[in-house]
Amino acid sequence: MAATDLERFSNTEPEPRSLALGGHVGFDSLPDQLVSKSVTQGFSFNILCVGETGIGKSMLMNTLFNTTFETEEASHHEACVRLRPQTYDLQESNVQLKLTIVDAVGFGDQINKDESYRPIVDYIDAQFENYLQEELKIRRSLFDYHDTRIHVCLYFITPTGHSLKSLDLVTMKKLDSKVNIIPIIAKADTISKSELHKFKIKIMGELVSNGVQIYQFPTDDEAVAEINAVMNAHLPFAVVGSTEEVKVGNKLVRARQYPWGVVQVENENHCDFVKLREMLIRVNMEDLREQTHSRHYELYRRCKLEEMGFQDSDGDSQPFSLQETYEAKRKEFLSELQRKEEEMRQMFVNKVKETELELKEKERELHEKFEHLKRVHQEEKRKVEEKRRELEEETSAFNRRKAAVEALQSQALHATSQQPLRKDKDKKKASGWSSIYSVTIP
Ligand code: GTP
Ligand code: MG
Repeated sequence: MAATDLERFSNTEPEPRSLALGGHVGFDSLPDQLVSKSVTQGFSFNILCVGETGIGKSMLMNTLFNTTFETEEASHHEACVRLRPQTYDLQESNVQLKLTIVDAVGFGDQINKDESYRPIVDYIDAQFENYLQEELKIRRSLFDYHDTRIHVCLYFITPTGHSLKSLDLVTMKKLDSKVNIIPIIAKADTISKSELHKFKIKIMGELVSNGVQIYQFPTDDEAVAEINAVMNAHLPFAVVGSTEEVKVGNKLVRARQYPWGVVQVENENHCDFVKLREMLIRVNMEDLREQTHSRHYELYRRCKLEEMGFQDSDGDSQPFSLQETYEAKRKEFLSELQRKEEEMRQMFVNKVKETELELKEKERELHEKFEHLKRVHQEEKRKVEEKRRELEEETSAFNRRKAAVEALQSQALHATSQQPLRKDKDKKKASGWSSIYSVTIP
């Protein structure tokens, strides 16, 4: 269809007309159909608990859901922050809830806390990425996909009564564009009423001045606008957790018992636990899920797709074409691949040349060494040869002298046997010979 046809078609589209129905048709049951479908399908809700070790995260979860989740006490010696998700199947009436509680184990325990927020941010992004990958699949099954995206982050503030720590501000700032943050003051029974009031004001002031966006209970739905507006003014909620049942009057209530009295978890004069439960579970659970999808996940998805080179329209405001974008990206990828290949080939050639030169240099050095050793060896050989010659000469001289002495000795013996009377004279001669002998024999 030509572009002009399309324009004419869209321009001539008739306005919808209102008609009255002659009787009951049945599409007024659509909301019921939706409810029934949702109930059958079940819901998932994922809570991230961020707060320092031992602040009361597990206790609050147990108190909120009125059950006992499996928990492991964290040590204060974690080398870095680690995220520990645990999923539970809960049922209330006929509604199934797949609840995941993610603990930021070891938060605030490191000496250097500069990077404490990073594992939390990475975890949240990883859940978005998993969802995006499922969405991008050709055969996707989002219907039965276990959605692990974090719907709410309960940020546990230590009840110091002073102000927020830098770690709190940095972490909340890093998380606020990725997750709905509900700040809560933990162990609120350890802070007095007047101090708590000032502490809340101080915290809100610090969040605003540092540009930290916390989750605001929505006021656009008339049914809950009023209560949500009132509750927004109570943030951050100061909570107390306990699963211990204490008898107050003639009723058993969940409370913390002290020598001086009892702090009742569900008493609004004692703490904001009921407000938190009301806002988090009974009124705004669906809004938290929706905000996660339409705001935080949408932002992640947009950035990710833009990073991958997708755009809604090109420079000339042409509508987005997946095919063209894919082709362009493919070409870009192939040329990048070629460039990298060429770069690697060049690198390889250079490396081979370098190695060749090194080997040649080594060969030259070895050759020089060999020549030098050869010269040294020849010189040594010559010296040894000379010595051998000298020794031979000395030996033959000695042999000659030895032969002469032996000849003289035999002559002398002969003479003695011939003239026995000239004994004395001969004795003298013999001693003369022996002195010659002792001098000449080395
Ligand atoms: P890790 O998981 O080890 O980081 O601890 P956690 O934050 O889960 O704390 P947990 O719920 O295990 O509670 C730690 C201690 O604090 C326990 O002794 C609780 O009884 C106590 N506690 C929990 N909630 C409160 C509270 O609201 N007030 C007071 N005073 N103590 C609390
Ligand atoms: Mg715990």
